[in-house]
Parts: sequence; C-alpha cells; structure tokens
Amino acid sequence: MQENFPTQKLLKWYQKNKKMLPWRVDKDPYHVWISEIMLQQTRIEAVKSYYLRFMEKLPTIEDLANVSIDELFKLWEGLGYYNRARNLKKAAMMIMDKYHGEFPRKEEEILSLPGIGEYTLGAIGSICFSLKVVAIDGNVLRVYSRVYLNYDPIDDIKVKRKIEKHLLELLPKESGDFNQALMELGENICLPKGSPKCEICPLANICQAYSKNKMLEVPIKAKKTNKKIEQYTIFIFNVQEEYAIEKRKSKGILGDLWQFPNVEGTLSKIEVEELFDKESVVNIQELFPYQHVFTHRVWQVQVYFVSLKKKIASSYQWINKTMLLNDYAIPSAFKKIVDWILEN
Ligand code: ADE
Ligand code: SF4
Repeated sequence: MQENFPTQKLLKWYQKNKKMLPWRVDKDPYHVWISEIMLQQTRIEAVKSYYLRFMEKLPTIEDLANVSIDELFKLWEGLGYYNRARNLKKAAMMIMDKYHGEFPRKEEEILSLPGIGEYTLGAIGSICFSLKVVAIDGNVLRVYSRVYLNYDPIDDIKVKRKIEKHLLELLPKESGDFNQALMELGENICLPKGSPKCEICPLANICQAYSKNKMLEVPIKAKKTNKKIEQYTIFIFNVQEEYAIEKRKSKGILGDLWQFPNVEGTLSKIEVEELFDKESVVNIQELFPYQHVFTHRVWQVQVYFVSLKKKIASSYQWINKTMLLNDYAIPSAFKKIVDWILEN
C-alpha cells in the first residue's frame, strides 16, 4: 500500500517539535533502553528525574549488572512494575556475559534479552541502530486508527499485526525518527481524551477521522478488563519512633519488596482489638481506607495504626522515618501509608 502518506512532512514536524529529553542527547542503546522501559509505565515528565538519578548511580551496563537488587528497587521506587527492574538487571548480566558488555545489535539478540519485547526492540533497534523495525505503543495505535478511521479493536493481536505490517511498508530509512514522530504525535497532538489538535497536525490532510469529524469514535477496544478485587487490613505497628515493615514473599505480585504487615479481609476495629492482648497495646486507631489499582487487580485496603509497648514478630524490620524515606523501596501500593507516617 504505497499511498500518499506524508512521511517527509511528519519527519519535518518531528525535527522541529521533538522534545529535548535527557535520553535523547545521544543514541547510546543503554540510555534508550532504560528510558523506554521507564516510559512504558510512566509519563515523560515524571520519568525525567528517575532517569537522571538512575544514570548518575548506574552510568554503565556493568554498573547495572552489579547493583544489588535492593538498591535497584530503591532507584525504581514509585515507578511500579518491579519485574521490569528485575529484568533490567538480568539483561545487563546477560549482556556482560554474552556480549562483553556491549549492547547487541541484531534483532534476535536484542529480543532474547529479559524484559525486551517487540515494542522495546522496535524503539532501541530503530533509534540506535536504524533497523527496519516499528515501535507500536498505545499512542501509535490511536494515531493509526484515526488516520485510517479504523474500527478494528486495537487490543486484538491480529489487528495489531495488520497495523504493524502496514506501518512497516511506510517506514522510511530514518526509522527511529519515524517511530518517535508517531509516538510524539500521539502524546502531544492526537490526544486520547478531549479534542485532538487536528488544526496543527502534520497528518491532517490525509486523516480520515478528521475529515469526517469522527476523531473520538476510534480507537476501539474489544474487551473490558475484569479486575479481581482483593481486600486487606494493613497495620502500622509502632514502638516509640519505629515502625514495622517486612519483606513480601518472592512469588507473586510485588515479590521480595517491602510492605507493612497485613491480613486478608477487612477487619473492624473490634476485630483488630481482639488480635492483641490489652497489656501489649498502647493505642489502636482506625485510620483511612483506600484503593490501589493494578493492571489485573484492585486492592481495597483498610489501615490501622497500632502502637505497641514492645516489638513483636522477629520477621519484622523496625525502622524510623528517615530510613523509611531513604533506605527502603516501598511499592506505590503502600504510598498513602508511608505519607501518613511521614506526616504524623
Ligand atoms: N514514548 C515512549 N518512548 C518514546 C520515544 N522514544 N519518543 C517519543 N515518545 C515516546
Ligand atoms: Fe489525530 Fe487529528 Fe492528526 Fe487525525 S488530524 S491524526 S485525529 S490529530
């Protein structure tokens, strides 16, 4: 389908409008890799400071391969999806082992690295090595669906394959700029909600959604995600200036990360009081409920503050506020609790 797609116009638009971002100062694959993994879960503005701190602490692939998992989690704290951090380290170790510390350049080699799927291969391959690969994220799918007024569901893998095939045909030799132009167009012009800024869009003259004023009808998704609801009662155990945290089990969500002690289900204050003998407790306070949404589940949490006379349970780590803030990676799912402790 060699058509009238305005590739040169899109590339010119990108040259003129692209953001100056810390990972764009060079095309070092380590820089692009780390930024792309961070960007998969977080907005560009928020990633900047994480990225800069990460590169300050771990300037080379070798540093990443050798970092302790706890220090890595601390650098990752707040970004979520900690498996991505785990995979970064695994991949760095593999690059040290198999490729003498140099990021591989072949498609199959890049794809074989832990945590690198088609999207990340597309981004690194095109930006760093000018490979003929596309990088299709949600932004690109939206732009595509609108330009071609395509009502096929974008969460269907067959639809995605079709779009990928078409985009590959359009891909110029400046593959990195082309891919990034489509992504950035989706981020800043072809906005997901409210009105896209079609008047200033370089694709406006061929955009079918724009010409029919149907920009908000696409893209379409086939399935609604059914998230599983889980309820927990979480305790802030406090003895003098210290608070109890513990390591989560290795298996399962947020494995090996730190958490506050908790039990399944939503306990009433009376039920919580029955868990302790009166002599050991200074004070029990019902705090707030909150909800944390993951990709495939929702946690509904009730928090209790339990001040104790003596430390309990040897599996707990007792830490003060400074340590909580600086030394331990606590997942975002517990952020409201950390904030409460720091403020009280
Ligand atoms: N979003 C994620 N990666 C990007 C990139 N390389 N350019 C523009 N937007 C992006
Ligand atoms: Fe999106 Fe409007 Fe551009 Fe079409 S013209 S791609 S709808 S911003």
